[in-house]
Amino acid sequence: MLDTRFNTQEKVGLGMQETVNRCESQLAEWLRQAFRAAFGEAQEWESIRVQPATDARFGDFQCNDAMPAAKLLRRPPRAVAEAVLAALPLPPMLTRAEIAGPGFINLTVSPEWLAEQVAALSAAPRFGIPVAGHGRTVVIDYSSPNVAKPMHIGHIRSTVIGNALDRIFRALGYRVIADNHLGDWGTQFGLLIQGYRTFLSDAEREALTVEALERVYVQSYNRSKEDPAWLESCKAELVKLQQGDPENRAIWERFIAISRNEFDRIYKRLDVSFDLTRGESFYNDMLPETIQMLQEKGLAVESDGALVVRLEEEGMPVCIVRKSDGGFNYAATDIATVRSRVAEFNPDRIIYVTDERQQLHFRQFFAVCAKLGCTARLEHVWFGLMRLPEGTFSTRQGNVIKLEALLDEAERRALEIIKASNNDMPEAEQKALAAAIGIGAIKYADLSHDPQTLIVFTWEKALALEGNSGPYLQYAHARVCSLLDKYAEQVPGRDPLGNVLLLNEPVEKTLALQLMQFPAAVLRAAETCKPSVLADYLFSLSQTYSSFYQRSPVLKAEPAVRDSRIRLCAMVAQVLAEGLGLLGIAAPRRI
Ligand code: ARG
Repeated sequence: MLDTRFNTQEKVGLGMQETVNRCESQLAEWLRQAFRAAFGEAQEWESIRVQPATDARFGDFQCNDAMPAAKLLRRPPRAVAEAVLAALPLPPMLTRAEIAGPGFINLTVSPEWLAEQVAALSAAPRFGIPVAGHGRTVVIDYSSPNVAKPMHIGHIRSTVIGNALDRIFRALGYRVIADNHLGDWGTQFGLLIQGYRTFLSDAEREALTVEALERVYVQSYNRSKEDPAWLESCKAELVKLQQGDPENRAIWERFIAISRNEFDRIYKRLDVSFDLTRGESFYNDMLPETIQMLQEKGLAVESDGALVVRLEEEGMPVCIVRKSDGGFNYAATDIATVRSRVAEFNPDRIIYVTDERQQLHFRQFFAVCAKLGCTARLEHVWFGLMRLPEGTFSTRQGNVIKLEALLDEAERRALEIIKASNNDMPEAEQKALAAAIGIGAIKYADLSHDPQTLIVFTWEKALALEGNSGPYLQYAHARVCSLLDKYAEQVPGRDPLGNVLLLNEPVEKTLALQLMQFPAAVLRAAETCKPSVLADYLFSLSQTYSSFYQRSPVLKAEPAVRDSRIRLCAMVAQVLAEGLGLLGIAAPRRI
């Protein structure tokens, strides 16, 4: 992730320094007191932190701060740790505090205390996701396909990753403006308008489709390469459009309406919605003024007829803001867009989600915005392309996999799986489930990878019922729900979340400790702009759950243990549903 921070005034951090995990913060607070008791007041003790144990055999949590403290105090780290632990009696939340290695402090918490902590999370809204936004605004620019071209598989990652970030930031209490920055302006419209008039029959124009437009574009583009007169006529149509010619304007508007209609169909299937869908054209009138401002500040200079901003100091090639033919370009639009967003929403961050090929473009115009005094934090979340084992998904290779076809296939394959195991389910229910599983599988195949990696997409992996897949997590959730249903039959009218929680078995404690990590995982996913952090967490939670379930009978255990275990199960269901929801993945109760 490229993070260009232009802020002059320091804004409150997202919370990386604060400890989100309520166990960790209480333990750290006790250790701070112990450091004070052992060595007196010092500013440095404020930075004492506790983290989950790297090796569960030594405890539940650990503190590594005796080492830096030892430097400060000029004493051996182990001696420091010993003095700290000797300074105060063991509090009721701990059953053990020990020193290991060079001076690690290992802490084992009491099951009763841990039970209280996890119960408090479970009772909190959204399982304790912290309100880290403090009313701050984030604009997320994602999906952003180009008009008159079908949305292809290359746009899926932007849509899916962007939407997950959108949901995660909202959950953290940010004001999120999700903006679909459509590519609806530019030289291609001259080629399209002229081609539309020439290559399509009346009937085709009547029943215009995005596919027809794509064909028109290719045909018109090819002809422009060999026929200069054609190219000239296309340019003339573009100029007419830019000057507001009513006929060309109406045709262009129709291209947009038809494209949006198709995009909306896909967004509906993906359960994605935006606060704004502003195309590049929205900023068109602001371009001259933006360029003028760059000139007045002495930032933009003429070079070979074009207007450019030099970025030598930043170690980048010049950023062209006006082409030699006088036309404004992609960079000019993006700079104007930042100005407009800052004026309208005063965002703290603007996050752009696109593929890796646009990295230079973003770095360049971020640098130009910095020169203009932009104080919002501009971030480019780029992702590697998604490929099929046999090659790329990209349009240029002619091997176009349209997004819609991919979604159809996902649902078809999911339906086959469902039919094989649920013959008695009504047809309509099977179809709804197939949509939830098929779309979930595609989303998860994307979100479970670090955005900045190349994904080789295979149906086998995406739809696997075992292993790190969307369906695996959905099944895990549905299985817990069915266990809860059975419990409800066995013990009618009892809310499992009201039961007494006992964490006597090691695996129960492990599960509770892992549930405690949910809010931190959500926060970390936002901080790093990597929904994969949350996906990893959910996968690891469901693995822990499955080993808990294998080792600890729930419904057959004696009542007190059964009631406690079912409460743990109910919490696992809470977290899986909440976490999948943040990834934009449905969590059906029954599969
Ligand atoms: N329309 C562009 C594309 O399909 C993505 C736009 C991303 N957003 C932006 N503000 N540049 O590649």
